[in-house]
Amino acid sequence: MLNRYGSSTMRIGLIGSGNMARALAVGWGRPVTCSALELEQAEALAALVGGSAVTTNLAVAEQSDIVILCHKPAQLADVAAEVAENAAVVVSILAGVTMGQLREAYPNSKVVRIMPNLAVEVRQATIGIVDDDCGDPETFAKVIALLEELGDVAVIDESHFAVLTAISGVGPAYLALVAEAQVDAAVAEGLDAATAKMLVGSTLRGSSELLISRSNDSEQICREVATPGGVTEKGLAALDRPLRDGFIAAMDAVLGRSK
Ligand SMILES: NC(=O)c1ccc[n+]([C@@H]2O[C@H](COP(=O)([O-])OP(=O)(O)OC[C@H]3O[C@@H](n4cnc5c(N)ncnc54)[C@H](OP(=O)(O)O)[C@@H]3O)[C@@H](O)[C@H]2O)c1
Repeated sequence: MLNRYGSSTMRIGLIGSGNMARALAVGWGRPVTCSALELEQAEALAALVGGSAVTTNLAVAEQSDIVILCHKPAQLADVAAEVAENAAVVVSILAGVTMGQLREAYPNSKVVRIMPNLAVEVRQATIGIVDDDCGDPETFAKVIALLEELGDVAVIDESHFAVLTAISGVGPAYLALVAEAQVDAAVAEGLDAATAKMLVGSTLRGSSELLISRSNDSEQICREVATPGGVTEKGLAALDRPLRDGFIAAMDAVLGRSK
């Protein structure tokens, strides 16, 4: 059972202590109980945010109100065999693992499927959650409240989850690649890398704030920056086709379609 004090005091258990587990724990900024195949990794995470590293996944379930699956998708069955009987509430971040697979692995638990992104670490994440209240609206609401501490939460039908994953789940890597490509282009023109990185990072932050404050009206922003016949227009013309083609190819790749 979840404790009766609400999401902020739920005891959080993390199975796996890798990149996403660390980012989630840092974002929440409170103690966790965590495990990993290599105990040292779990110990490093517990040292970072407080709480305890435990030697078994079962101990994570026993010492937590909510168990978050932060291992790799391929480990679903092995981990469930250890903890399913003791995990009242299970939240999965496993890419590509469906509600049906989760319910089969955790038949007696309340199961919630989410897709966060790495920006949970700075509480600016975009988090998808499948619109299935696990038969317990109160628990579902508490999970949403916990996630809202880390950023924006979108409750969507599972049929759209793969596309959400391909946009917001992987998004920080795409935008990091965009930043890297812009830095490389600037360095090739003789600008030092540190200055180029500062300019690109600052521009990304300001542009995303602007986009959201303008209700995501990307066309209007392009129009306002690109005066007719000016330099932006030339740059946009060079970027438009390759960028759109690239994102379509990336969507196909993430969704497992080959072209
Ligand atoms: N990275 C992202 O941006 C992102 C975004 C959204 C969702 N996800 C999902 O998050 C999950 C984790 O991704 P990640 O990038 O954090 O991977 P990762 O850094 O490789 O972390 C995986 C963790 O799982 C642990 N682990 C492996 N087998 C285990 C077992 N049997 N019991 C307990 N722990 C076990 C690993 O321990 P050892 O290192 O000791 O083997 C490691 O701590 C994946 O399912 C992925 O789909 C990732």
